[in-house]
Amino acid sequence: MIRSAICGIGSALPKKKMLNSELEGIVETSDAWIVQRTGIRQRYIAGEGETTVSLGTAAAKAALDNAGLTVADIDCIILATATPNHTFPASAVEIQNALGMSHGFAFDVQAVCSGFIFALTTADLYLKGGMAKRILVIGAETFSRILDWNDRSTCVLFGDGAGAVILEAIESANGDNSDRGILVCKQRSDGAFVDKLYVDGGPSTTQTTGHLRMEGREVFKHAVGMITDVVDDCFSATGISPSELDWFVPHQANKRIIDASAKKLGIADEKVVITVDQHGNTSAASVPLALAVAVNDGRIKKGDLVMLEAMGGGFTWGAILIRW
Ligand code: UT7
Repeated sequence: MIRSAICGIGSALPKKKMLNSELEGIVETSDAWIVQRTGIRQRYIAGEGETTVSLGTAAAKAALDNAGLTVADIDCIILATATPNHTFPASAVEIQNALGMSHGFAFDVQAVCSGFIFALTTADLYLKGGMAKRILVIGAETFSRILDWNDRSTCVLFGDGAGAVILEAIESANGDNSDRGILVCKQRSDGAFVDKLYVDGGPSTTQTTGHLRMEGREVFKHAVGMITDVVDDCFSATGISPSELDWFVPHQANKRIIDASAKKLGIADEKVVITVDQHGNTSAASVPLALAVAVNDGRIKKGDLVMLEAMGGGFTWGAILIRW
């Protein structure tokens, strides 16, 4: 039996860090409001020449270095993004070219903030289906470019960045939960909520890129229930209990949503990886960025049980349980 295990991880952030205090000069807001309502203290904003492709490429190179591999070892690139460099071709193909890779195949996955979960699930199935041996899975975004910088209810929430992992097919040692790799993936969507979080432009409608629009309170209302449902599904499918979990790496949208989800799931605070204070909400990049932080600082170690989850526009939502 094949398992998909992460054998390398990397991340990249834009050079410019933007503190909450800087936003006070752009819209009517305050550091105190942003910290109290969201937990965000700062975010990174892409400058000239920094794009989803450049950040994704930098994260991919870091993941390859971390794994001790080169592009020759990679069969496929899957990029999760809602902010591609161009309407087409897929930014994954541009990253493939920037990495100097002319073999294999690359494509984008669009599930907004859940994009990395959907991309990792897709990669897991490609590996288990025997279509590839190693897949570079990237979450990269430049949400700063689709924000309405006059809308205080959204522009204070998001940031830019990228995270990448290399997922590798390995032979399962025991065929049970003690094996390294992805143990289970769950994903969901419900288009009935399309108008709660969307971009008001597109090639087939306005022929413009458009700006992000969100009914924040409505998203908040559904987030905890949707997140806890898929995480509970992962626990039930494997027979693993929340107390056995070593690390919970949630989508980093709002500290209050993360805290409420962890509490409802019975996951202790000290097992929750929080980076929303540092990065803001980086959509599809948020989970791999948080993972990279917790791996690099030594918290996540080989053999640990790690639960990833995300929820966002669509709505889309999903979770993945991994034996690291
Ligand atoms: O990644 C995809 C998923 N996205 C999310 O998970 C986001 C989910 N939603 C949220 O995180 C929260 O709903 C927000 C952080 C967006 C808003 O927090 P809230 O506690 O739901 O606030 P609210 O929207 O109910 O607004 C409370 C007040 C309003 O004023 P009134 O009507 O009470 O007078 C807003 O106008 O806060 C006001 N407000 C602000 N004040 C200062 C909204 N934005 C700001 C701001 N600064 N930036």
